[in-house]
Amino acid sequence: MLTLALNKGRVLAEAVPILERAGLVQPGQFKDTRALVFEPAEKSGLRVVVMRGADVPVYVEHGAADLGLVGKDTLFEHPTHEYFERLDLGIAKCRIMSAGLADAEFDISRPLRVATKFVRLSERFFAAQGQEVRFIKLSGALEVAPRLGLCDLIVDIVDTGETLRANGLVPLEMIAHVSSRVIVNRTALKVKQAEVLACLSRLQDSL
Ligand code: PRP
Repeated sequence: MLTLALNKGRVLAEAVPILERAGLVQPGQFKDTRALVFEPAEKSGLRVVVMRGADVPVYVEHGAADLGLVGKDTLFEHPTHEYFERLDLGIAKCRIMSAGLADAEFDISRPLRVATKFVRLSERFFAAQGQEVRFIKLSGALEVAPRLGLCDLIVDIVDTGETLRANGLVPLEMIAHVSSRVIVNRTALKVKQAEVLACLSRLQDSL
């Protein structure tokens, strides 16, 4: 049996039709339930565990889950050699962008203050621009931070752009494209190779 750690929320919602087409889960099994562990559907050989995105790479890194299905945004912040990214499902697409107040004026005498939960990715981006930055790590509702004077810019997920607009912010620079990826634990890929490859090919064929 394989265990898949599945990012709840939007990734789960968009992944369910693929998992169902692949015959890896029972139709409707994630609806109206608070259950977090789903034992294998008939002949699927795949146990699914639902969790927050940030925890998916942790379970897969430690081998507590053989596979993970999670947004690339999360993977940018969790680099490790203990898993491989094997499949891009092309779902839950969005962008990571910098954004700021429409009428912002920056004090160029001090480093730019950037609030984000994507510190690693942002560090790389601003370093490549030669920009001196002080990062402020936040975990959600970033859009209020510039208005309260906490930062000059935010780096966050942008999908429709509605959240930025509703909070008086404008998108500035494109930093990364995001979609959902399947990651595989390094050891599982060796020890359970046939099962892992069969699962990946069922997913690939169901896109
Ligand atoms: C994300 C992101 C933005 C919003 C952008 O939040 O942090 O707030 O989506 O979407 P939009 O461009 O379509 O308005 P999410 O709802 O995923 O929750 P989070 O605050 O936990 O990141």
